[in-house]
Amino acid sequence: MNSSDTLTKKNSLSEVTSPVKEDLAVFRKFFKNEISSDVFLLDQIIQYLLRQKGKEIRPTFVFMTARMFGKVDKRSFIAATMVELLHTATLIHDDVVDEADKRRGFLSINKIWRNKAGVLLGDFLLSKGLLIALDHKEYNLLHVLSDAVKKMSEGELRQLKTSNLFNMTEERYFQIISEKTASLIAACCQCGAIAATDDESVAEAMHEIGLDIGIAFQIKDDLFDYGRDDIGKPTRNDIKERKVTLPLIYALENATKPKQLQIRRLMRKRNKSTRDINKIVEFVHEYKGLEAAERKMADYTENALTTLRTLPIKSGFEDFEDLVRFIITRKK
Ligand code: IPE
Ligand code: IPE
Ligand code: MG
Ligand code: MG
Repeated sequence: MNSSDTLTKKNSLSEVTSPVKEDLAVFRKFFKNEISSDVFLLDQIIQYLLRQKGKEIRPTFVFMTARMFGKVDKRSFIAATMVELLHTATLIHDDVVDEADKRRGFLSINKIWRNKAGVLLGDFLLSKGLLIALDHKEYNLLHVLSDAVKKMSEGELRQLKTSNLFNMTEERYFQIISEKTASLIAACCQCGAIAATDDESVAEAMHEIGLDIGIAFQIKDDLFDYGRDDIGKPTRNDIKERKVTLPLIYALENATKPKQLQIRRLMRKRNKSTRDINKIVEFVHEYKGLEAAERKMADYTENALTTLRTLPIKSGFEDFEDLVRFIITRKK
């Protein structure tokens, strides 16, 4: 089957996740169980959190990877619960850092309960996520996921620093997104493999594959900021927060020096008017930044799938392939 056939095969999230539908149902029970708290304020926010629905992409990666190399069992559920907890924690922290007021179609935690509660709830979820591994003596999973958490913090901090320095380059961009986003998706793939096979070379290869997929995932997210669709969280926030992402980097490369200067100056402004923002968006569209970023994104997923084909997969390659293609065609 060639790639254009598979591209049109599955378009919605539920179609893509259907091979692991039952795994996800079990995972949700684990997840809910883990995040209960008898501290009143915590419980209040947690109940709010549980009403929101994320895509559950990371647990899906854990299960689909496990299925390619063995069976889904308790270890996969532990890993999936850990990654979703860690992911949720970093989203809550990220919204504080990015001053975002919306998440998953709801008001963000920091918007309702203020930054202080967001920081503390994020800490709570982060510690919960790591503790599960200790409770079950899963030191290997703990190691891989702690490493990812460390990388994610480094990436967010590096990004913070860069937005003040304005010396964003393509190289730096890829370093930041590898750390802040791809490291966790890499860990999901690695943990799925660890849970299902003792073959360490497979787990290591799945880490590399997850890195490529995670990079494509964040490029897609950065493309949304320039789009016109409702994605359940703020668009144009990267521009407001002076985050230079791949579409802008590529558009700048296609522009003359004076034009580059003009756009950089606009981007640097702290309080941008709607007019400023529209100018930047139009510039990125006009100078083909979106197309260039899309091509790069597709390169990363193709590379991931090429590496994947070299591994000793038992079954479920097509399901995984659908998931990877969904990452770059998704609507939110
Ligand atoms: C958002 O991740 C954060 C990024 C790394 C871009 P998701 O898009 O997976 O968020 P949810 O869990 O589906 O809301
Ligand atoms: C996501 O970066 C990185 C995280 C580790 C949460 P973004 O700031 O682009 O994510 P969104 O767009 O807010 O989801
Ligand atoms: Mg953000
Ligand atoms: Mg974003």
